[in-house]
Amino acid sequence: MAYSTLLFDLADGIATITINRPDKLNALNATVIGELDDAAGRVEREPEIRGVLLTGAGPKAFVAGADIGEIGGQGASDGQTRALRGQRMMRRFERCGKPVVAAVNGFALGGGCELAMACHLRVASATAKFGQPEVKLGIGPGYGGTVRLPRLVGRGRALELLLTGAMIDAQEAWRIGLVNRVVPADRLMAEATALLRTILENGPLAVRACLELVDSGLDMGLDQALGLEAGWFGVLSATADMREGTRAFLDKRKPVFTGT
Ligand code: COA
Repeated sequence: MAYSTLLFDLADGIATITINRPDKLNALNATVIGELDDAAGRVEREPEIRGVLLTGAGPKAFVAGADIGEIGGQGASDGQTRALRGQRMMRRFERCGKPVVAAVNGFALGGGCELAMACHLRVASATAKFGQPEVKLGIGPGYGGTVRLPRLVGRGRALELLLTGAMIDAQEAWRIGLVNRVVPADRLMAEATALLRTILENGPLAVRACLELVDSGLDMGLDQALGLEAGWFGVLSATADMREGTRAFLDKRKPVFTGT
């Protein structure tokens, strides 16, 4: 599929996906959502893709939210369908089994904040701004804002952002745990790439297991989640990568993982 609103670049195992509507601050219209869904499918399917960087084109915005021009005229049924489509796309990235890092280069508002939260890690430029301003438009979040925000920053802080619709800067987003790192704007892609590369040096099956365990385990009771973790510990114990990782440690050399 040729994309009209995304740039998709694959180099050295990393797919860099850039939402490319800078004149509309990369707002998520139906085309962007559909193309991101397709891109998530590529990430799931293509073994040469080992990790993902997700960012926005231009100096101003990561994503300034759902396309307000599109949602303005929607009714109940199209509104629900729009929410479900966006949620499905974001869930696909979240469940793709490969690390996805958001490089947040500017405004991450509404659907932009939600998209960043569906990524596994967030690196923010010092100029980035975050918020869930939907209530200011008389609507609520539709792409997981009320679900992922309290899980990331806690109920009280999430409710403050959701109910006021206020914007916070990157430093405050870091303070409350909404982003993992804040870096100078001109270092954003380099730092996000370095973080992803650090992850990609590790055993890919073990990384996949961590993604799966945190995603599934958070919605389970303690004992069930511990049981799942023990099951994966057993599965990973039977892999060539685990033999290689432990042997390399004892041999005082870097491991060479094969994902088997
Ligand atoms: N949907 C559609 N278009 C959007 C958009 C959105 N979410 N956010 C910005 N744009 C468009 C603007 O309409 C403008 O288009 P135009 O040049 O054709 O008039 C262009 O992007 C630039 O935005 P502008 O508002 O002029 O930039 P700014 O620097 O003055 O303000 C923001 C930046 C992010 C504060 C402001 O654009 C904004 O509040 N956007 C909406 C954020 C929002 O409520 N998101 C949640 C949606 S549910």
